[in-house]
Amino acid sequence: GKVIFNGELVERENVKVDIEDRGYQFGDGIYEVIRVYNGELFTKKEHVQRLYESGEKIGIKIPYEKDVLCKKLEELVQENHLETGIIYLQISRGVSPRQHGYPTPEVEPTFVAYTKPMDRPEDLMKSGAKGLLVEDIRWLRCDIKSLNLLGNIMAKQKAAESGCFEAIQHRGETVTEGSSSNVFIVKDGILKTHPAVNLILNGITRQVILRICKHNQIPVKEESFTVDDIKTADEIFISSTTSEIMPIIQLDGSVIGNGEPGEITKKLQKLFVEEIQ
Ligand code: PDD
Repeated sequence: GKVIFNGELVERENVKVDIEDRGYQFGDGIYEVIRVYNGELFTKKEHVQRLYESGEKIGIKIPYEKDVLCKKLEELVQENHLETGIIYLQISRGVSPRQHGYPTPEVEPTFVAYTKPMDRPEDLMKSGAKGLLVEDIRWLRCDIKSLNLLGNIMAKQKAAESGCFEAIQHRGETVTEGSSSNVFIVKDGILKTHPAVNLILNGITRQVILRICKHNQIPVKEESFTVDDIKTADEIFISSTTSEIMPIIQLDGSVIGNGEPGEITKKLQKLFVEEIQ
């Protein structure tokens, strides 16, 4: 299929990335994953807004206006006849002889976007998945959607090696987020998720869920909670672009609630489907 490379719609085979691209050498760049449902980008504005914010935080200037970028991404989806799937896009600081400091004068960022068909994980969302608690060893700017994902991938690998779907990370006693998702718990009918500060990525799915809760009078607090709280929660779910609202029915091998997706989790799943139709 086609990809976007530095603004041009081209065949994937024809793209060459330089060995001194700073994304490749330093992970010096940012990215987004956007869902496509029925051939349309879901929460497009929010993702593009977050991309610009990530760029601002590390001094990468996105070389397009927001609406131009949106148009390009829509073109890509149409060109590849994508119905259900994702767009992956990333922007690195660009190509420059290797040295840690930002290049002076500034160079053109490298922009790449491609699509991938991906079904909604319907079976797993119905049955629920397993989670593993993993110490959060990442840096202190997890609010930036950076290409640097070593901490995240090491956590995910640990979870996978234990037969778990996701690593639920905690800094000491405080639960932060998943390796590629946000974490919610339900206790006595009240939802809790870590506040959107530097220790987590402010997930777009997380934001959609908070909005759904407000509109449906479901009590929710953006408040941190402890490892003990999550172990004794009535319900746990994680949220992300690819996993939507994914129930966690086992944590570190212990059953959560009655070992099935909880009532509030299922209600939110139902309300979420209404958002994406
Ligand atoms: N991951 N936290 C982290 C660390 C993430 O990597 C992600 C998303 C989220 C959820 O964000 P959102 O709801 O906007 O997808 C939270 C994407 C999907 C990925 O890296 O593939």
